[in-house]
Amino acid sequence: MRPTDFAPLWPGSNGAPLPCTLQHAFRSRGSGGRAAADPGGPSPAGALTTPSAGEAPPSPAPAIPPTEDPMLNSALDRLSVITQVDTGPPTAMKLDALWLRLRQEAREAYAHAPMLAPLFVDSIINQPSLEAAAFHRIAARLKNDVVGLGIIIDAFNRAVADCPQISEDLRTDLSAVVDRDPACERFIEPFLYFKGFHAIQTHRLAHWLWHHDERDFSLYLQSRSSDVFQTDIHPAARFGRGVFLDHATGLVVGETAVVEDDVCLLQNVTLGGTGKESGDRHPKIRKGVLIGAGAKILGNIEVGAGARVAAGSVVLRPVGPGETVAGVPAKVVNRAPNVPVEEQILNDLLYDSFVYTI
Ligand SMILES: CC(C)(COP(=O)(O)OP(=O)(O)OC[C@H]1O[C@@H](n2cnc3c(N)ncnc32)[C@H](O)[C@@H]1OP(=O)(O)O)[C@@H](O)C(=O)NCCC(=O)NCCS
Repeated sequence: MRPTDFAPLWPGSNGAPLPCTLQHAFRSRGSGGRAAADPGGPSPAGALTTPSAGEAPPSPAPAIPPTEDPMLNSALDRLSVITQVDTGPPTAMKLDALWLRLRQEAREAYAHAPMLAPLFVDSIINQPSLEAAAFHRIAARLKNDVVGLGIIIDAFNRAVADCPQISEDLRTDLSAVVDRDPACERFIEPFLYFKGFHAIQTHRLAHWLWHHDERDFSLYLQSRSSDVFQTDIHPAARFGRGVFLDHATGLVVGETAVVEDDVCLLQNVTLGGTGKESGDRHPKIRKGVLIGAGAKILGNIEVGAGARVAAGSVVLRPVGPGETVAGVPAKVVNRAPNVPVEEQILNDLLYDSFVYTI
C-alpha cells in the first residue's frame, strides 16, 4: 500500500484539494514528509555543462537545511518554490512542483551516476520546463536521419500550444506510473527510461496531428513509435488521462478503440477488431480497468469501469463493471463486491442472452 497522506508543496494557496491524479505528483516519498524542491536550480549565469571524461561531477544541489519546526520547514519549502517559480497563477505554481521534484531527482541521480551526465543534464537540468524536458527526451528517442529532433519538438510545441490538455495529460500519466508501478520509486524513472510513458506521449502528439490535417506526420509517428517503443497505436485511438502502459512491448491498439482515464495496459495487449466488422469495430475500455499481459480484447465490446482482464485472456464478450475475467474465451472469475446487485444481474442476463442467441 502506498501512503496517501502527504502535504501539498503549496499549502494554503487557495485551500482547494488537487485532483486525485495530480495529488500523487506532490506526494513526498521517503523523506519524512518534506517535499523536495530544487533550491539549486539553474542560475542566471546559465546552464550546467556536461563534464568531460574523468572530470568530477558537481556536488548535489545545496538544500535548505531542515529544522525541528514542521511549520518552518513547510514555509522553507514554499520559499524554495517561490524563488524558482515567480510567475503564473497559483495553479501553475502547484503544477511546477512536479518539475522541481524532477529536477531534484536529476541532480541526485547525476551525483550517483556521473557517467550518465549527458542524460540528466541535456534532458532535465538544462531544460526550462517539464514540457520542454519531456518533449526533448521523447524526441531524442524518436529522431532519426529522416525526421530530426527539432521537427519533433516543434510538433510537440505546436500541439501543446493548441491543446494545453496534452501538458496536463503528460503530468497525470507520469504520476500514474509512479503511483501504480511497484517497481518505480522516482519520477525520473518513467521520465527518462520507461518506453510506455514515452509511447503514450508520442501517441498524444500523433492523435493531435491526426485531427489537424497532418495525417502523414501522425502515421509516421505511429510507425516510428512502433520501431522505437514496440507499441503500435493507431493515431485516431482515443485515450483518457492517467494511462499507464506497463512495459508496453507489443501493445496494439486499433483505430476506433477508446481507453478511458486511469487504465493500466500491460505488455502484448491487443485492443483489436474481430476482422468481421467495419466502422466502429474496436473495444471501449472504461475508467480504471486493468488489462493483464498478453490479453486480447476483440471487437466493439465494452470492458466496464474497474474491471480486470487476466493475463493471457481472449475477451470476445462485454465485461461488466468490476468484473474479473480470465481464460480463452474469457469467463467471469470474480466480481468486485461494491458493484450493485442489480447491475450484476443485468450483466449476467446480457451475457447469457448473447451466449444463447449465437
Ligand atoms: C486476474 C488477476 C488480476 C487476478 O484476479 P483475482 O480476482 O485475484 O483472481 P484469483 O487469483 O482469485 O483467481 C480467480 C480464478 O481465476 C483463475 N485465473 C487467474 N488468473 C488467470 C489467468 N491469467 N488465466 C487463467 N485463469 C486465471 C485462477 O486460477 C482462479 O481460478 P479458480 O477459481 O478455478 O481457482 C491476475 O491473475 C492477473 O492475471 N493479473 C495480470 C497481471 C499481469 O499481467 N502481470 C504481468 C506482469 S509483467
